[in-house]
Amino acid sequence: MKTRKPMIIANWKLNGGLDLICTSVASFIGKHFDAQIAICPPYIYIRDMMTFLQYSELQIGSQNVSKYESGAYTGETSAQMLKEAGVSLCLIGHSERRTMFGETNQACFNKIARALQHELLPVLCIGENREEREQKKTQEILRQQLTESLKGLDLTGKNLCVAYEPIWAIGTGLAATPEVAQETHQFIREALVDVFDLITAQRIRILYGGSVTKNNAQDLLIQKDIDGLLVGGASLDPGHFLTICEHASRIAKEEN
Ligand code: PGA
Repeated sequence: MKTRKPMIIANWKLNGGLDLICTSVASFIGKHFDAQIAICPPYIYIRDMMTFLQYSELQIGSQNVSKYESGAYTGETSAQMLKEAGVSLCLIGHSERRTMFGETNQACFNKIARALQHELLPVLCIGENREEREQKKTQEILRQQLTESLKGLDLTGKNLCVAYEPIWAIGTGLAATPEVAQETHQFIREALVDVFDLITAQRIRILYGGSVTKNNAQDLLIQKDIDGLLVGGASLDPGHFLTICEHASRIAKEEN
């Protein structure tokens, strides 16, 4: 039995529009899920989505957050602004932000601290690239990402999530097998014990992301240390995303 409530997050990246908002939200109206479900649209659509959400359990997340509180930082959006807009959680350190926008572990630490300060749930994304996996450096890379992004944070009365997203699996159609994902998630949980402590590591949800589809979601979700999914491409099809959420809800119900 898993004590952690499963979480399914859609990451729309630089995709979507008013049509997708309407069809996505419509498919969740009036439905109950034994899972926490969130969509992270581009910033510009956050307010549009909020107006549709009163009849569904969906939550809204952001794909990024500023490490700054306020000031002369052109193009940034602060945790306080996101909170005020009704956002519940924010992705931090997605591999696309790390590789294309130079985001470092130190920046992730600062962003997580800001999110926690404003009561947003931070979802720290970590993962190795293909070369690192082939060179058997996965554990070293993940431990470094976790330590540098999390060590020293005070989680008293707060929580965060970790999303394991192997870079070789993102957008490639080559998801990690459930066995590889479980083995890596177990390692992440053990590393979290070293960063925090056993009790904290047990309550942190670890999501898997990277080519999740409605066809592989179930086999991933039944793994002991997989507490949810971060879904990119498949979340742009409202029917597929709904099916993934229904799987998570059903599995949670069966396990309890
Ligand atoms: P994908 O993306 O599901 O399209 O592989 C996942 C992500 O980048 O969060």
